[in-house]
Amino acid sequence: MSEVENRDQFGSRIGFILASAGSAVGLGNIWRFPFVAGENGGAAFVLIYLLLVFCIGMPVMLAEFVVGRRGQGDPVGSLRRVAGKFFTPLGGMGIFAAIVILSFYGVVGGWTIKYTVDALMGALGTDVPSAGAVFGNFVKDPKMVIFYQALFMLGTFGVVARGIGNGIEKFCTVFMPVLFLLLIVLAVRSVTLPGAAEGLAFYLKPDFSKVNGAMILAALGQAFFSLSIGIGVMLTYGSYLKKSEPIVSPAFQICFLDSFVALIAGLVIFPAVFAFGLEPGSGPGLTFVTLPAVFSKMPGGALFAVLFFFLLVIASLTSSMSQLEVICAYFVDDRKWTRSKATLTVTCLTFCLGIPSAISLGGGLNIAGKSFLDAMDFMASNMIMPLGGMGFALLAGWGLHAMAKEELSGSDGKPLAIYPAWRVICCVVAPAAIGWIFVTGLKW
Ligand code: PHE
Repeated sequence: MSEVENRDQFGSRIGFILASAGSAVGLGNIWRFPFVAGENGGAAFVLIYLLLVFCIGMPVMLAEFVVGRRGQGDPVGSLRRVAGKFFTPLGGMGIFAAIVILSFYGVVGGWTIKYTVDALMGALGTDVPSAGAVFGNFVKDPKMVIFYQALFMLGTFGVVARGIGNGIEKFCTVFMPVLFLLLIVLAVRSVTLPGAAEGLAFYLKPDFSKVNGAMILAALGQAFFSLSIGIGVMLTYGSYLKKSEPIVSPAFQICFLDSFVALIAGLVIFPAVFAFGLEPGSGPGLTFVTLPAVFSKMPGGALFAVLFFFLLVIASLTSSMSQLEVICAYFVDDRKWTRSKATLTVTCLTFCLGIPSAISLGGGLNIAGKSFLDAMDFMASNMIMPLGGMGFALLAGWGLHAMAKEELSGSDGKPLAIYPAWRVICCVVAPAAIGWIFVTGLKW
């Protein structure tokens, strides 16, 4: 058997969709989306966000699937095989971004475990000041933050070390449906609270006066981060897909599930925040300070708090495993390491690189006015991911269009109806939009 035939694969289409949706659905949807939307004009932001997801995000995701499925390898190896050596830096940049993202993602993932434990013990605080004190004391305690970060990284390692079919696919097939169910239970609880309507209005009534370059860049960065595109994650997952499987309908389903979870997360958060007279635009603290206060006032809140933070743990784990997988795929496919050596080494490396982020919120480790963690997030989500996405779009649309045409053809060998639109988007629309948004909106 050749090396490529020996590669691990997704066992089923639904397994592939749930694993990719698991990568996409994460802290980005439940922690980041609501506060970024809250800071950027609510529904106006949401509308622009959805437009960018389906008109730019989905075509870029398809471009990654095309390269990955054809290249049958990690981002660097796939690009070398399908496009030539000249293009491997695009894969290298993706792997670098995955290392940066996993380093801080592991820290926030650790917070979600800590909050689930505290929710179980009823120790989250009873109002905004006390919940703020709980959060403040926690992030200022490096030992605790690093302990939970380590626990989270260990969980990620445990799944990825088992490989694709037995590790990532199995985990996501069991836990993604649990996540969807929990989210719906929480949304029903939130929108049926007395006084929820004001929050719904804030979330669903667009304020177009807030639309400007910086806001659109925030929406683009959010779309790329949330869909896990631009850094080769989807390329790598696509490389574990059987040749006979379609890629267009899964791409649509993944984008749909991802947007659905983000929208519903807003429905969980805003009505509840307004119902108890709290402020929605409270930044990253929304989930970890405002929500605990909300839960403490809500009938049945103790139980809902546990469900909510457990949901966050699942969402973050299914994303962090995809970040770890991209990096490990490089060492396994390209450097011929064993999977256990690669997962162990990369887990330890990203854990150590995460320590500055872990201590940055409490200790004031800043880079030009942003905490180290926020700076890493900004660099990866608002800079590398859009640029990488532009690279994949240009490459697939211009350089690899003949190959893409074959990959985007039906079983009868004819190109799918979506192909011409996809090509125009990849060649012109996505690069121009990303370039324009980047130039006008990039502000530290
Ligand atoms: N999409 C994930 C989220 O929304 C984050 C992520 C980014 C995952 C990049 C993989 C790669 O939280």
